[in-house]
Amino acid sequence: MSLLRDHDLARAFDHASHTYDSLTSLNPGHRGGLLRSARRLRLPGDGAGLHVLDLGCGTGASTAALLRAAPQARITAVDASAGMLRRALAKPWPARVSFLHLTAEEITAAGEEPFDAVFAAYLFRNVTDPDTLLRSVRALLRPGGRLAAHEYSLSGSRAHRALWTAVCRGFVVPAGTLTGDRALYRHLWHSVRDFDTAPAFAGRLARAGFTGVRVAPVAGWQTGIVHTFLARNGSPTPKEQNP
Ligand SMILES: C[S@@+](CC[C@H](N)C(=O)[O-])C[C@H]1O[C@@H](n2cnc3c(N)ncnc32)[C@H](O)[C@@H]1O
Repeated sequence: MSLLRDHDLARAFDHASHTYDSLTSLNPGHRGGLLRSARRLRLPGDGAGLHVLDLGCGTGASTAALLRAAPQARITAVDASAGMLRRALAKPWPARVSFLHLTAEEITAAGEEPFDAVFAAYLFRNVTDPDTLLRSVRALLRPGGRLAAHEYSLSGSRAHRALWTAVCRGFVVPAGTLTGDRALYRHLWHSVRDFDTAPAFAGRLARAGFTGVRVAPVAGWQTGIVHTFLARNGSPTPKEQNP
């Protein structure tokens, strides 16, 4: 099966946006995993004075996780799907959270002010050119700025690959078929199967120029299937090294 990309993917997410939150709420540990990854950014002082980018924010679940992890941060959240963004915008947010209908490629090319951190949950596996996007994301971070990518990325073990196939065949694709989004949920299955393993994605981050790349598992059934990838744009500032 060919994977969905760019406009086709955004259209598929537009259609799935109506049921996205209810379907993901059936996934035990979905919200908790996002929060764990957002907290792993270890943003100081509750994020006060920091500007954080949520790339591929969808209906705002990753944005809400960021807000809990760094309640004082200014957050800019972007997504390529107007439908997903509409769902996000319908939720209550403090004034320092704003949403933009842009692709990740567009915002990284827009020459924005440098961000202190970028959070990207379930994004990089979906883009056409992850290497170019990763280099652009690094360029968007201030020196020492942090990236956390929360991603379905298999450990490389046969057991985790078999579990992912079983979950997709037994639940993800049937549930997506019921909501009329079979193509998107088949894309989810195959895009994870075909994407980098966790060690390979860590290598990709290092090749894009990130430093201090670390990989951490999430808890529950997703252990070995979803990971947090942590990295920096260069070294931390002297103040961060010796707070
Ligand atoms: C699986 S959803 C995750 C949404 C959110 N981060 C979360 O954790 O709930 C992936 C999101 O990435 C968005 N997306 C995919 N490719 C994108 C791109 N190139 N630029 C911006 N958003 C993109 C999709 O529209 C979708 O809303």
